[in-house]
Amino acid sequence: MKDEILAYAQGEAYPFHMPGHKRNIKDGVFPYQLDLTEIDGFDNLHHPEGYIKQIEDKAAEIYRAKRAFLLVNGATCGILAAIKAATMRGDKVIIARNCHTSVFHAVELLGLKPEFIMPERAASDIFGCVNPVKLEKLLSDNPDAKLVVITSPTYEGICSDVDSIAGICREKGVKLFVDEAHGAHFPFHDDFPNSAICCGADISVVSLHKTMPAMTQTALLLTGDSEVIQPLQTALSIFQTSSPSYVLMSSIETCLTTKWDFDSYIKRIRKLEAAAADMKRLKLLFRDKRDFSYDIGKLVISTQKADIGGIEFAKILRKKYKIEVEMAAYGYIIAMTSVCDTNEGFERLIRALLEIDSSCKAPDGKNELESVFSLPERRLFPFEVVATRTIQFCDAQGFVTAEDIFAYPPGIPIIVKGEVLSPEIIGLVNRLYKNGVNVISSEASFPGSILVADL
Ligand SMILES: Cc1ncc(COP(=O)(O)O)c(C=O)c1O
Repeated sequence: MKDEILAYAQGEAYPFHMPGHKRNIKDGVFPYQLDLTEIDGFDNLHHPEGYIKQIEDKAAEIYRAKRAFLLVNGATCGILAAIKAATMRGDKVIIARNCHTSVFHAVELLGLKPEFIMPERAASDIFGCVNPVKLEKLLSDNPDAKLVVITSPTYEGICSDVDSIAGICREKGVKLFVDEAHGAHFPFHDDFPNSAICCGADISVVSLHKTMPAMTQTALLLTGDSEVIQPLQTALSIFQTSSPSYVLMSSIETCLTTKWDFDSYIKRIRKLEAAAADMKRLKLLFRDKRDFSYDIGKLVISTQKADIGGIEFAKILRKKYKIEVEMAAYGYIIAMTSVCDTNEGFERLIRALLEIDSSCKAPDGKNELESVFSLPERRLFPFEVVATRTIQFCDAQGFVTAEDIFAYPPGIPIIVKGEVLSPEIIGLVNRLYKNGVNVISSEASFPGSILVADL
């Protein structure tokens, strides 16, 4: 594999995807030189007092947190730890339905009882923000809830009003955990939204590797609440590896202590936005006046008014322009940018967008795929799903699923264990699958067959 990756990296392909270092850091230190274990003088991630604590303090300063923890198992382990630290088995939790699959894994693993809040609709198939008024009502209806979990920004860069949501949670005596995996770059320039801890979240997690110059799996768990520091530390000792990588921790240090040129990065984005404003058929979304704050580093380009779909658009970018994007959905693509992008990369993308746009015609009919924005009926909590058998997916209507099904990326479940497979859900899965979207479940045989629960 290594030779193939190196050959690919030396080729022409330009990465508008993670990791945020874009293979564009010429550090010159071979990773093997940095690969150490907890020998004397080099600190211990699970009890940091020396070098590791210094990096954590730097992170806390940048994100204005009371405490930061380095993560070397991705935001995923921070999400598991945060939810464990803030809850007890059997607790009720309020979960935004567009959360990452790891949130749903935590709910199952920790035996929690979720009440879901469906975010607003930002486009026919794109989740928007969590509505604070609806959240307040849900909290009033569920006064025993212990934790609220939301994702902000979303994979598409949409931010919820964390200030208001944090205020509501404080008033109701509920902790707020924000999965800010896609917002690690927010504190580095004023043109980005405010980060969650600054807005009053109790706990947040940021994936450095997604949008910052850091290696894959690096992330930070942050808290602005002294009460949860010890529970977080305890939970991390369960979910983080006992052999933390010094290569990854050194990468976090470099990421947080280097002065990156964010002004030039913002200029590149603004230039692309100006060029994209001339497009007739493709559309760079969320740039006009809107009622939510948005991460301009995310380039979400809709094909809804063109005679191509997102999957074909991504193929053209790959084949003709050697541009690899982060994600292709039915009606849009996501190109992820970072401070490590080059002028050449942006110029290539601008040229590609303008040329593809001018070759597109109006679509024959409606070129969009409506997602399902209503919550499926729940029969069992995820931790209650035990007895299972396999049936053909085409016969599954009315059965209770024993697997989460999600489109990947980004890993947001379409249906969660314990919910009823309605005709709408089955229709959506079939439509997505037929249109080349990667729909998966924990079972290899999906979508031919599916595990269902016996009630
Ligand atoms: C919103 C969100 N949260 C969490 C994660 C998990 O992050 P990591 O890959 O750093 O474990 C992802 C991954 O794509 C994500 O999109």
